[in-house]
Amino acid sequence: MAGREPIEDMKCVDDFRLRLGRRELVPIMIGGMGVDISTAELALEAARLGGIGHISDAMIKTVSDRRFDTKFVSAKQKRYKHNVANVDMSVVKFDLGDAAEATRLHVQSTMEAKRGDGLVFINCMEKLTMNAPRETLRVRLVSALDAGIDGVTLAAGLHLGTFGLIEDHPRFRDAKLGIIVSSLRALQLFLRKSARSRRLPDYVVVEGPLAGGHLGFALDDWMNHDLRAIVAEVLGWLSQEKLDIPVIPAGGIFTGADAVGFLEDGAAAVQVATRFTVAKECGLPANVQQEYFKAAEDDIEVNGISPTGFPMRMLKASPAIGSGIRPNCEAYGYLLDSNGHCAYIDAYYRELARHPGAKKISVRDKTCLCTHMRNFDCWTCGATTWRLKDTTRRLEDGSYQLLSAEHVFRDYQFSKGGTIALPD
Ligand SMILES: Cc1cc2nc3c(=O)[nH]c(=O)nc-3n(C[C@H](O)[C@H](O)[C@H](O)COP(=O)(O)O)c2cc1C
Repeated sequence: MAGREPIEDMKCVDDFRLRLGRRELVPIMIGGMGVDISTAELALEAARLGGIGHISDAMIKTVSDRRFDTKFVSAKQKRYKHNVANVDMSVVKFDLGDAAEATRLHVQSTMEAKRGDGLVFINCMEKLTMNAPRETLRVRLVSALDAGIDGVTLAAGLHLGTFGLIEDHPRFRDAKLGIIVSSLRALQLFLRKSARSRRLPDYVVVEGPLAGGHLGFALDDWMNHDLRAIVAEVLGWLSQEKLDIPVIPAGGIFTGADAVGFLEDGAAAVQVATRFTVAKECGLPANVQQEYFKAAEDDIEVNGISPTGFPMRMLKASPAIGSGIRPNCEAYGYLLDSNGHCAYIDAYYRELARHPGAKKISVRDKTCLCTHMRNFDCWTCGATTWRLKDTTRRLEDGSYQLLSAEHVFRDYQFSKGGTIALPD
């Protein structure tokens, strides 16, 4: 074909390196996926292969109970049993010592298992307000830094006061600290509000509208935004201001060639997640991973059911959609604001009042995100999920073959020209 570069002359991701301080890394970062979807095993593979992996501190006590057989959740549930039928959840507080201990266990054991030249970061969402936003966020951050995490990615929120919470920590200047933004304005606000700490973020993840999880755009407006345009705007402004902060695009980067496109345009690395949802090391149960493989483009939607107020992308078949389970804030309660309030509680009691005596109710506008994320019943995913079936083979029983994280990572790292290597 005239004008087309021969494939051997094309660049691949491995022709680039991410420089973070004195370190040189493969410029592939696996994004944080709560609740324990981006497991320690997945993050450790990214680090072993020379890139960056994320664990997440979402619902940290649940994660600790699963990994280390601690009993944080049942202890909290017991403590607040008396409040089960109460609409007012303001008494349901997190024990800060427990939150610190759960974070320490998760982070420390992960870091002790780390091999290779890469890094492991933790994804820390501000929207997990836990009925005491500042105190709980500080404890989570301090505990992760104490336990030796390589870096923290500040997510799901503007984080205008977050640097201030940890500026006295001995690792404040040596740990890698980054933030996820979806607009130049959000980055500018963060930098302005953090200026007092006299420390720039070590990297900025620019997450566009095709990402999985929560989106930093309005429900009726996300489709009007384009990752490439936002990245160009951010890069242009940073260069104009002579600010040397690595920019890491995320959302819809499905092939090595997609990544190379961003790297050639000045990005320092890429953050990817959806392709790893079908890796063996990913925390999603195998039957849910098959749902991700099977999904058609039309099976994915962006909806407003998250009580956080952020739009969220998920499979339409997610059991979380329309479920009317009783809120279980005594056990979880990660989305309770500083007044003990969560939008799902309102929606649930409204439906209960509308259907007195009903055995089962359905709540369509909001979901109990804690319970459903904990149970892997909220199948959040990126916009490219429908392409996952093209990244593997169909087995004799009709199911799709799971991939190893190494296979997916290396495919991003070495593939050229938009090709995707199938597993052996
Ligand atoms: C299953 C899933 C769960 C996610 N959970 C989180 C999360 O807890 N926190 C967060 O900041 N981003 C979350 N994300 C976003 C990813 O970290 C990442 O930035 C984004 O999905 C990259 O786009 P891609 O999935 O198209 O590669 C999640 C993404 C997926 C697919």
